[in-house]
Amino acid sequence: GITRHYKFNIRLQNVTRLCHTKTILTVNGKFPGPRIVAREGDRVVIKVVNHVPNNVSIHWHGIRQLQSGWADGPAYITQCPIQTGQTYLYNLTIIGQRGTLFWHAHVSWLRATLYGPIIIFPKHNVPYPFAKPYEEVPIIFGEWWNADTEAVINQALQTGGGPNVSDAYTINGLPGPLYNCSANETFNLKVKSGKTYLLRLINAALNDELFFTISNHSLTVVEADAVYVKSFQTNTLVIAPGQTTNVLLKTNPNTINSSFLMAARPYFTGIGTFDNSTVAGILQYGNRNPSFSNFSISTPPLPILPPINSTSSVANFTSQFRSLANSQFPTNVPQTVQKRFFFTVGLGTNPCPQNQTCQGPNGTKFAASINNVSFSLPTTSLLQAYFFKKSNWLYTTDFPNSPIFPFNYTGMPPNNTMVAGGTKVVVLPFNATVEVVMQDTSILGAESHPLHLHGYNFYVVGQGFGNFDANKDPAKFNLVDPVERNTVGVPSGGWVAIRFRADNPGVWFMHCHFEVHLSWGLKMAWIVLDGNLPNQKLPPPPADLPAC
Ligand code: C2O
Repeated sequence: GITRHYKFNIRLQNVTRLCHTKTILTVNGKFPGPRIVAREGDRVVIKVVNHVPNNVSIHWHGIRQLQSGWADGPAYITQCPIQTGQTYLYNLTIIGQRGTLFWHAHVSWLRATLYGPIIIFPKHNVPYPFAKPYEEVPIIFGEWWNADTEAVINQALQTGGGPNVSDAYTINGLPGPLYNCSANETFNLKVKSGKTYLLRLINAALNDELFFTISNHSLTVVEADAVYVKSFQTNTLVIAPGQTTNVLLKTNPNTINSSFLMAARPYFTGIGTFDNSTVAGILQYGNRNPSFSNFSISTPPLPILPPINSTSSVANFTSQFRSLANSQFPTNVPQTVQKRFFFTVGLGTNPCPQNQTCQGPNGTKFAASINNVSFSLPTTSLLQAYFFKKSNWLYTTDFPNSPIFPFNYTGMPPNNTMVAGGTKVVVLPFNATVEVVMQDTSILGAESHPLHLHGYNFYVVGQGFGNFDANKDPAKFNLVDPVERNTVGVPSGGWVAIRFRADNPGVWFMHCHFEVHLSWGLKMAWIVLDGNLPNQKLPPPPADLPAC
């Protein structure tokens, strides 16, 4: 591989959407941010310079970061944030991965505007395991707020209620013609007839899983989270924040001058309000520019998407993912397990401070937890504390490996919805084989949670609805060709089982990729110890690692 250099200047920039101009954080003045393009085996060095008042850190979501945990990016987990005027060099090598990932800010809600694609091509002269596409197009979904997103989350945390929802969803930063004052900001994919396009779909939205479809076209799924999958056809797909999906789009051979709509809108089963609007874009054959300034019935019909709360559509779609599991792309799913965990994930509450009125459930504050632990970030990074052996006042290693109060997780909610705070981690020996069953709880209503693990891909060996049954369900696990990914939805009212081998030493964040649940504490961290060999150890930090 070669070394590729990027410079990310974090700058303020005025951007107008929905006839509303606001000053946002950008990389190099661009919204969405620039693409990182590399090949498998390359080293990528990104110099991030902070020219804004906020503390910033950037995460390279899905990059394995083998022995380069100092470049992972989550603030207060692997690094202190980059302060105003400071610079940090992220130095990472792409090993054994090719496909679509993305980068995003990883502090507070700054990823609302700081995000962009990562595109990894296979090594030279290594073809895709599918026909070479005529063109490749990144499609990155996001959310647009007219309000300042830092104010939105800070207000929610102070009052204890749910945050205000976004004003629009976006495709490549554009809300599209279904929103007021937005027709000129519509994503338009110009295509030729009879060609195959590779769409690199990325969900960078803060708080919503999205259904996506293109009218009159079917899509062939070929990759998820930068891992090839056995291809399958679908008309509609669902993509959770943190997930990426590559699909092939075959254009009709006989269509010449014509336009079709693509659309995305949320899948949601939780409590409270959400942005239930729809982003549309255009698939345009030929060069005649359609005008959607008067969006009306004369425009092409909107494609049909599943009902907002269609958990069965989501389950049908996600159950089709399988890894290739062939000689070129073998599956290394651990067949035996050394460390087994059962994690409940869901919402709960914190008490309202005295002399305050709180807007959460029954006058409490919203919180979220794993095994009833609502994780609080330490004041310096966990990786620094661990590496320099200054753990005692920053974190404890007693994260519970099963729920403290077992109950009927998907039945009637228990009387006590309170969660406990703490900065607790799990310590794993190097190379341990790990299984985690994650169970959604309906304490404040059943809801899907896209759980993301840093530093690893994992295999999704099983999923189901209701309460996980440790006696019966493991017999049905797929240990032959389970999909390998970095973000998986814990089904609404159900469970998912994942396995991975702890072969990457460091401190690795695991959390719900809904930003609001992350803010409420649905997160934890693993410490993976060094192995004995030199290539099994985390190297010391770079000299420019920011201090807190
Ligand atoms: Cu994409 Cu911890 O995040």
